[in-house]
Amino acid sequence: MVEIDAGLLRDILSRYQGKDSELIPVLLEVQENYSYLPEEAIKSIAGLLNIPEGKIYSVSSFYSQFRLTPVGRQHITVCRGTACHVRGASQILSELEQEIGIAEGETSDDLEYTLESVACIGCCALAPCLKVNGNVHGEMTVQKVEELFIAEEAS
Ligand code: FES
Repeated sequence: MVEIDAGLLRDILSRYQGKDSELIPVLLEVQENYSYLPEEAIKSIAGLLNIPEGKIYSVSSFYSQFRLTPVGRQHITVCRGTACHVRGASQILSELEQEIGIAEGETSDDLEYTLESVACIGCCALAPCLKVNGNVHGEMTVQKVEELFIAEEAS
């Protein structure tokens, strides 16, 4: 289990009154602060709202915006939409998997990287593209993927 800032969790939970209807808002606020829903936070939320932990897990699994695992410091999202697909998104993804040593959908053990793919990131004119921590990198090539990580390592 990843250690979390317990003081921050206490501060967040202190703003809620313990009503059932607060479940989604409290989950959103916890995730906004930790980037996912830590196990410890789920236990505390269950206690605060007096509901079973299982209910929180089923709600958080139902809504795709909730995450139950931590996100790496470098959150890489590769676009696999049509425009990116026809311009080589699969190659870009394979190169990234090799470069950082994890498969799509995984987070590295050291929490440095999370690698995911999405349907479209809204920059089709720059296809193929990807995002690193929200910053778009367009017209990607295998060469540019290598350069991106050489630049990241040097910084
Ligand atoms: S299809 Fe890749 S940005 Fe739209």
